[in-house]
Amino acid sequence: MIGYSTHPALRRTWQAVARPADLLDGPLAVKLLGEHLVLWRDLDGRAAAAFDRCPHREAPLSKGAVIAGCIECPYHGWRFDPSGACVLVPSAGPGAPIPPKARLGSVHVAERYGLIWLCLDEPVAGIPEIAEDVDPAYRRITTEVDLWESSATRLVDNFLDISHFPYVHRASFGAATDPVVPKVELGDLGDWFGYAYSVTAANPAIGSSASGQVTATVSRHMSTGFCLPFAVRSTIEYETGLRHVLLLLAAPRDDESSHFTFVVWRNDDFSVPAEEVIRLDRLIGAEDKVMLERLNGPLPLDSTTLVSVQADRASVEWKRQLRQLLS
Ligand code: FES
Ligand SMILES: [Fe+2]
Repeated sequence: MIGYSTHPALRRTWQAVARPADLLDGPLAVKLLGEHLVLWRDLDGRAAAAFDRCPHREAPLSKGAVIAGCIECPYHGWRFDPSGACVLVPSAGPGAPIPPKARLGSVHVAERYGLIWLCLDEPVAGIPEIAEDVDPAYRRITTEVDLWESSATRLVDNFLDISHFPYVHRASFGAATDPVVPKVELGDLGDWFGYAYSVTAANPAIGSSASGQVTATVSRHMSTGFCLPFAVRSTIEYETGLRHVLLLLAAPRDDESSHFTFVVWRNDDFSVPAEEVIRLDRLIGAEDKVMLERLNGPLPLDSTTLVSVQADRASVEWKRQLRQLLS
C-alpha cells in the first residue's frame, strides 16, 4: 500500500514522538504522519504542540523562540499561546485587536510513561495501558526517541517476529536460541493481542544486569502482543521471578521513516543503575535498526505480496487488523 502514513484513521491514534527533556532548549520540530509539527513547553512546563506553520506568511515556528510559554514566529514576531491563539502582533502596536483567524492548527498532546504523545485529530482510543506503571513493585525506565530510516510497518513486523533472533541477534542474546519456532496460539493478552512462548537465550556479560543472572544461558518465559496501530508490548519473565516489561513504539514520520523508542518496567530491587539494565535492550534495538534500514519502503500490507510461514502468524494477524483499521 502506498501512502499508508497519511491515512485519516492514523490521525486519530496517539503516537509518542519526544521526551519532555527534548523541549528544554527551545521549540522542537517533529514530523508525524507526513505533517510538520512544533512542540514547546508552556509556563507550567507542560508540552504544547501545533502545526508548524504560521498563519501570517507560513514561516516554520519551530525556528522561532519560546517566550513566557508562548511560541514566537521567527519572521515577524507574532506570538501564539499553548492553545494556538495569537496573543501578540508586534507590527499592530499595543492594544490593537488580533485578527480572529490568527490561530495555529492545534493537535492533542499528552504526557505518559515519560513520553510526549500526539494525536492529530479527535482520538478514537487511549494511549496503550501498561498495568505495571502504577504498581510500586516496578520501576520505569524511559529512553530517548530515536529516528529510524525505516517504515513503522517494518518496525512492528520486526517487534512481533521471533524467528530473526538467532540471526539478527546472534551477537547479543540469539546465539543459543532454537531457530525452530514452536506453534504459538494467538489470543488476547489483556489489552494486547499476541502470544506467549518460552525461549532459551544466551546470557552474555552485557545482559547479566538485565537477567539478574550470570549463567551462560537463561530461560525466559515471554509474551509479545500488539495494540493497534504501532505499539508492541513484550514481557520477559525469568525463573527468579524477575519481570521485565518492554513497550516498543514506532510512530510514522512518513511512509519510510519512524520515531522509535522503548520503555522498560522491572520489578527488581532498583539497585542496578537504569542505564546498565537497558544496555542489552539498546544493543538489541541497534541490531534490529541495522537490518530494518536495509529494507526498502513500507511493509507490503496486502495478504499476497509476501510469503509468510507459521512463525509469522502474529505479524500476519497484525497486518490483517491494520488493514481493517485503514479500510
Ligand atoms: S510569518 Fe509568522 S509572523 Fe509573519
Ligand atoms: Fe529484533
